[in-house]
Amino acid sequence: MYIIGGTASKTVAEELSKSLDAPLARIILKRFPDDELYVCISDDISGEDVILVQTTYPDPNIVELFLLQDAAREAGAKKVTTVIPYFGYGRQDKKFEDGEPISARAIANLISVNADEVITVDPHKKHILDFFSIPASSCSAVPELAKYLKKKNIDLVLAPDKGALDRAKQASTLIGCDFDYMEKTRIDSTTIEIKPKNLDVQNKNVAIIDDIISTGGTMAKSIDELKKHGANKIFAACTHGLFAGDAIKKLSSAGCDEIISTDTIKSEFSKVKIAPSISQLMASKQVPI
Ligand code: R5P
Repeated sequence: MYIIGGTASKTVAEELSKSLDAPLARIILKRFPDDELYVCISDDISGEDVILVQTTYPDPNIVELFLLQDAAREAGAKKVTTVIPYFGYGRQDKKFEDGEPISARAIANLISVNADEVITVDPHKKHILDFFSIPASSCSAVPELAKYLKKKNIDLVLAPDKGALDRAKQASTLIGCDFDYMEKTRIDSTTIEIKPKNLDVQNKNVAIIDDIISTGGTMAKSIDELKKHGANKIFAACTHGLFAGDAIKKLSSAGCDEIISTDTIKSEFSKVKIAPSISQLMASKQVPI
């Protein structure tokens, strides 16, 4: 078995290589003078099971994944399992307006062409997995995030909206504290409203847990509310830290004490490793077969 790590997911691939005791395949990546990407797998992977790890964000990493998948097929890999730590375009999981694509399905279709199986982490909505035409499954980062948060004397875990309540509930069980949710209304892609809810957060250490922090709007508004209600320390935790634009500034200005994300997208806030969750899922499914 070989592990192939794309540019976006080198660390995750290295950790999977250790935990699965499989070598990392050497790859050459360079740009042609016109900026098109060139990839080459230097090890002989013919007849081997291959686990290809690549987050599909930002866009150039999607092209790199397609090329690596094609290269793995051309090189005669026996089975290609594509591990996508963060599945980009997952939030356009349906047509919100006429004329729009179902972007998550468009990307999933293309990834399915040269893979036998797909594994991802905390997809925005679970039904995204059905867009792949090959077996697709996901694991959750919540147990690893909860392990980290357990050291922070958390009194309450909050979901920023009711839809994310299960995540907060799971984390609170592992941490051993209470859980609840806030009332969020999305006005458009950059504007949201967090309505005050009768939460007793006075002097409490609160962790808000979400799947994605993108513009930081959801978290910043939630933090604002909690501060108004007298919360003590506030931790903003997520699986996928996109931190678009001035997201970090928004969170700090709102009074966030610590930002925590996993390394599905690598940043200075990637304090939690995702490889153990992926390995565990693979072990339970006995991937590759
Ligand atoms: C929404 O349903 C998601 O779970 C996140 O709350 C959202 O994607 C966060 O986006 P932003 O950081 O831009 O508010």
